[in-house]
Amino acid sequence: MSEWKIREQPPGCHSVHSRSLMKNILALLIVLAASAALAAPHPASRIIIDTDPGTDDALAMLLALNSPEVDVVGISVVAGNVTVARGLENALGILSLAGRCDVPVAGGAAGPLKQKLNTEPFWNGRNGLGGAELPGAHCRAVSRFGPDLIIELVRKYPHQITLVPVGPLTNIALAVSKDPGIVALVHGVVLMGGSISGGNVNAASEFNIHADPEAADIVFNAGWRLTMVGLDVTERTLFTEDDVRRLERRPGPLTRFAAAVLRFQIGTYQGTGFAGGAIHDALAVGAVVRPSLLETKPMRVDIETGGNFTRGETVANRSNAEDRVVWAGNWYETVGVNAVPPNVNVAVGVQAPSFIQMFIERITGK
Ligand code: BDR
Ligand code: CA
Repeated sequence: MSEWKIREQPPGCHSVHSRSLMKNILALLIVLAASAALAAPHPASRIIIDTDPGTDDALAMLLALNSPEVDVVGISVVAGNVTVARGLENALGILSLAGRCDVPVAGGAAGPLKQKLNTEPFWNGRNGLGGAELPGAHCRAVSRFGPDLIIELVRKYPHQITLVPVGPLTNIALAVSKDPGIVALVHGVVLMGGSISGGNVNAASEFNIHADPEAADIVFNAGWRLTMVGLDVTERTLFTEDDVRRLERRPGPLTRFAAAVLRFQIGTYQGTGFAGGAIHDALAVGAVVRPSLLETKPMRVDIETGGNFTRGETVANRSNAEDRVVWAGNWYETVGVNAVPPNVNVAVGVQAPSFIQMFIERITGK
């Protein structure tokens, strides 16, 4: 629970003070209740990965498919790192590599709700996988629209599914807009996206949120238990060349592919001041597989959908409080502080070495 601050009243404001105190206590209770609801643990669960594969998306999928704690019941593809057609092809290739054609995969939104698509060949390579080769895909996509597959699966497994979005949030927003009833039927949402300490697309915004801020606004305000695995933790969880060599000690198609993707990822981070390559999306899966990897704090997080410099920023209220301002006749006066109930568990700490170790063990099948 984040620190709660109550500011001192100016002298001569005693009646306002006692009312303010009551309001503050009430507000505090509301924040505590909201925090408790957000804090419930994610048990071993069925998951749906919503993805734009994508280098680190591919690694996230492989981690999930090789972790017995989670059962991947579906994959929906969204445009982001690559077009939706390329992403679908990559997802099918990854499932083929993992020998998991039983997992239903559906193509979803071909672009954001209100802006043009911006793919990322610079950060993911032309094929989206950093040039890493996949064996020919023999898995097939289901003939469903991604958001419809999400709705269908959530209704099939009520209260059992954790959504793991690791791309722009367009598919999830479309699903929840079409069928708001799924909010109460989802166990939780653990997404990779956002940041409370600066962006990676620009000064303020992280790619997945920047790619579709209106969709993120819908998802962050839907009212479900949401954990945000943002750059604050993913950029502290870095893969090094030594780690890749450890992975390669168990040769095979899976480790060969993962090593090629990881080397591309490490390469993209060279010269940026980071001591290795981040594999953002895999950490979101890791957080479902082993929730103790993360330290989280409940916060109110809003999505900036306007702003000159900040569109797509996840604006976090770290104290869950805001000034209470009243009109004093000719000007406004701040007379206290209002509680702001949290809507997101923000990941603020990570056990990075444990995650890297777990990733290597799972991919090498230990
Ligand atoms: C996120 O953006 C994409 O480039 C990655 O796949 C990840 O989901 C990191 O900001
Ligand atoms: Ca992604």
